[in-house]
Amino acid sequence: MALVHKHYRQRRALSFKSLEERCNRILRNMEGSLTARDRVGIQDFVLLDAYTSESAFLDNLRKRFHENLIYTYIGTLLVSVNPYKELDIYSKKQMDIYMGVNFFELPPHIYALADNVYRTMLSEFNHHFILISGESGAGKTEASKKILQFYAVSCPSTKLLDNVRDRLLLSNPVLEAFGNAKTLKNDNSSRFGKYMDIQFDHQGAAVGGHILSYLLEKSRVVHQNHGERNFHIFYQLVEGGEEDLLRWLGLQRNCQLYSYLVQGDCAKVSSINDKTDWKTVRKALDVIDFSESNIENLFGIIASVLHLGNVKFEADHKGYAVLNNSPEIHWLSKLLGIPAQVLQKGLTHRKIEAKTEEVLSPFTVEHAVYARDALAKAIYGRTFTWLVNKINESLANKDSSRKTVIGLLDIYGFEVFHVNSFEQFCINYCNEKLQQLFIELTLKSEQEEYEMEGIEWEPVPYFNNKIICDLVEEKYRGIISILDEECLRPGEATDLTFLEKLERTMGGHPHFVTHKLADQKTRKTLERGDFRLLHYAGEVTYCVVGFLDKNNDLLYRNIKEVMRQSKNAIVKHCFPSSEPDTKRRPETVATQFKASLVGLAEILMAKEPWYVRCLKPNDGKQPGRFDDVLVRHQVKYLGLMEHLRVRRAGFAYRRRYEVFLQRYKPLCPDTWPNWKGTAAEGVELLVKHLGYKPNEYKLGRTKIFIRHPRTLFATEDAFEICKHELATRIQAKYKGYREKGNFLKQKEAATKIENCWRGLKARKEREKRAWAVKVIKRFIKGFMTRNQPACLDNSEYLAFVRQNYLTRLKDNLPKSVLDQNTWLTPPPIMQETSQLLKALYTRHMVRKYVRGVTPQKKMQLQLKGLTSSMFKGRKENYPYSVCRPFLDTRISEEDIHVKVLQTIRHERIKYGAPVVKYDRNGFRTRFRQLIFTQTAAYLVEEAKVKQRVEYNALKGVSVSNLSDNFLILHVTCEDIKKKGDLVLQCDFLFEALTKLCVVANKQNCIKVVQGSVRFDIQPGREGFVDFKSGQEFMVYRAKNGHLMVESKKAKSR
Ligand SMILES: Nc1ncnc2c1ncn2[C@@H]1O[C@H](COP(=O)(O)OP(=O)(O)OP(=O)(O)O)[C@@H](O)[C@H]1O
Ligand SMILES: [Mg+2]
Repeated sequence: MALVHKHYRQRRALSFKSLEERCNRILRNMEGSLTARDRVGIQDFVLLDAYTSESAFLDNLRKRFHENLIYTYIGTLLVSVNPYKELDIYSKKQMDIYMGVNFFELPPHIYALADNVYRTMLSEFNHHFILISGESGAGKTEASKKILQFYAVSCPSTKLLDNVRDRLLLSNPVLEAFGNAKTLKNDNSSRFGKYMDIQFDHQGAAVGGHILSYLLEKSRVVHQNHGERNFHIFYQLVEGGEEDLLRWLGLQRNCQLYSYLVQGDCAKVSSINDKTDWKTVRKALDVIDFSESNIENLFGIIASVLHLGNVKFEADHKGYAVLNNSPEIHWLSKLLGIPAQVLQKGLTHRKIEAKTEEVLSPFTVEHAVYARDALAKAIYGRTFTWLVNKINESLANKDSSRKTVIGLLDIYGFEVFHVNSFEQFCINYCNEKLQQLFIELTLKSEQEEYEMEGIEWEPVPYFNNKIICDLVEEKYRGIISILDEECLRPGEATDLTFLEKLERTMGGHPHFVTHKLADQKTRKTLERGDFRLLHYAGEVTYCVVGFLDKNNDLLYRNIKEVMRQSKNAIVKHCFPSSEPDTKRRPETVATQFKASLVGLAEILMAKEPWYVRCLKPNDGKQPGRFDDVLVRHQVKYLGLMEHLRVRRAGFAYRRRYEVFLQRYKPLCPDTWPNWKGTAAEGVELLVKHLGYKPNEYKLGRTKIFIRHPRTLFATEDAFEICKHELATRIQAKYKGYREKGNFLKQKEAATKIENCWRGLKARKEREKRAWAVKVIKRFIKGFMTRNQPACLDNSEYLAFVRQNYLTRLKDNLPKSVLDQNTWLTPPPIMQETSQLLKALYTRHMVRKYVRGVTPQKKMQLQLKGLTSSMFKGRKENYPYSVCRPFLDTRISEEDIHVKVLQTIRHERIKYGAPVVKYDRNGFRTRFRQLIFTQTAAYLVEEAKVKQRVEYNALKGVSVSNLSDNFLILHVTCEDIKKKGDLVLQCDFLFEALTKLCVVANKQNCIKVVQGSVRFDIQPGREGFVDFKSGQEFMVYRAKNGHLMVESKKAKSR
């Protein structure tokens, strides 16, 4: 069982793959369509308020029919209206939709019923049957095929099971070929009742089947009304049979040649393709395991019937029937394997028992024709039975394990024609029996449900048709018994004597009336040969003509014996020698039928019933036309109103608490949106809130029962109004929920990002710290090993030191060459580098400086160099002069007196500086100009050249080593008149002397002396200048007559 459910679940999962499909399903929800009742009618007649009104019933049916909604429920009964057109509601997709879905969840459908039956069977593990009834052409056979197809698709399958499934499916075309015919009402009318069992194993797989047939309309073999045909198989064989086969059977491809095929005068029908149908049947026979010989024999029989129909009798001189070597007898003899002679005799004579011996009595022609037709009917009828048995053999499941069964009963519904005969009598009797069964089963199940739900049983007012069944079938007193009696009675029994006997026996029965028994008013509607039964579905008038004959279905004994000799295995089998004592009359048709109905009732009583009632909308087989009168008639005779009445006797609507609460809980604040208690409590609260009156509903154990549809509709309407309100609220709530969701999502995302970011930052920080620790460690290690030779430990540190030193050095470079102190002290490893760099940088600065030196400056520097070479380290105040740049001259030409200029200009003035001259004698001081020309030095006082010293005459120049500015020019002086050496003081001592050296070209003429300098006052007379250091610069005449120059001691630099 678990496996089955798994299978189902899988199928369901497949079925509702997409959301769209699920939505569609909800849209189609039957409860939901309660609201669409105005347009599409209601889907369950039980909810019809005016349930006793045929018109309301019809209105609903019509409304739905015009919307192509051909199915409607009456509770679990399915009413189906033949659409007479292909509707797209039988696809595989549709099957999937209906598979495993609750009965009321989807719009009514034959699949819903089939599925529900199947699932109930599986879950309860019991037997079921589906009774399909309706007028000819209403769609019974189609419905049963749809059910079979649904099972073929929905049941679990394996290769082996597929075989069974194929046989079950293919048994249909075979049975239809032999048992269906074109009638005025239906081009494919089933001319027999069919009950088919489908057997399922415990896993729900179809594993076998069994077919029972009822009351085949054999008379059709020999006679067809105008516009009707014989059974399809005859036409299929003649039209579709292979040439060889036809030749072997002695047939020609022309239906017109066979009298049994042309009585209706419509051998060809546009809606039927006999050729293709033939192929289908041939293929089906193979699948159903018919052997070649079976098939040969079978078609031998079909052909024999055709030949038999063509047998013509002639009257001899006595008026007896004779057969004159007709070719038909030849073929019959060949196909049936009976000597022609024997056949001939059998067809023209009957055996009469005369006391001890049997005598053959010849037929009149009329009689012979009767006997011939009887034989044809018998052969065909028995062959049909054989065929059903053969199919059953092929469908039989040999496995003895317990199986559950779903029976399909495709049987004629109530028939009411203008003239109703024995067949209608049987059929309507059958329907009475089925109605009886329905009442028993429905009431039983209703009662069971009430009991199960713990609801007090309320008697259902309904009409029990048992009285009619009894009227027909009661032993000795029933119509059938009386009919049989008449048939068996010796003497002249006729249909009319039968009627008289009926009148005698049934007189006064409320459901039986004849012309004689009727009151005046009724009598007018009855013929003398009629009797009328008041069936549960309405009254039907039967004409007794032919009742006895049809009931007898007489086949003369001797022809049976002839058949028994047949070499055709099927015929032989159909006419067994073990047939009940030939001397006793066989059971009449009505009795057989009654017995078979008893059997059927027994079969059905042991099963759960389901019903499909088929209606035909019009007599013209036209789509879209709904003939009110015709449908009303069927509604009546199918007992639909009666059925509805029984259904509605109790409660119109019942649903499980969960389902009811789920749908209507929004109508009560206590149950909306969620009910915490049990569904039953919820429903109780809900109905109280809705104000249901106590007599309007009952609460069972698992279901709520609502008596009137109007209560439900009021609830539904309230729900409809409330739905809009709810939708808005739900929408608002949902929007809020969505926003909140979004917000929470964003918040969560933000927190997540924050966390991630923090994490990332922390990780980076940690990495940084770890890195820093490593770096510091390395740094410290490097520092500790900085003095070791370069190795892994200190290489980085040293690099750092190097770089650090270099960077610092870059920022702290000396600004000038003279700046010797700013050079950064290098770390030990940079000592060498530092030195190299320093030298390099110095050179760079020098070069830079040198590049920046102008020719004048160069000149000056050369002069300075010269000065240096003369005085550096020799004269105390020299260093102070270094930084004082030399000028070209200290006395510009403007400052020189014109007269002097005129005198000396031609010698080109090179330099001039103011000097203090000390008199050679008294050492008086005089301010003079000292001017160097190209050739001589002049001492000038204003406009007067005081002394001219040619450079040739310049012996030398003496200066002290101290910081005074005295210079003594030694002059060669031979002439006494000439002035002697010059004692001068010049602030620009070094400049003047350097210029002099250059101009006079006498580099070596300068002498730096210590202590004292001798000088010539005039030739032969000498004076002295003494130099010493003192506190203060002083110049005075010393006591010894020397000029004492005391100079301030220069600070060392
Ligand atoms: N559901 C359906 N959809 C489309 N057409 C249908 C349907 N049911 C019946 N028909 C049409 O109606 C015809 C008659 O249906 P069907 O043979 O089932 O009637 P029936 O009730 O078995 O009649 P009978 O009692 O004569 O056997 C079918 O051949 C088909 O053309
Ligand atoms: Mg049928």
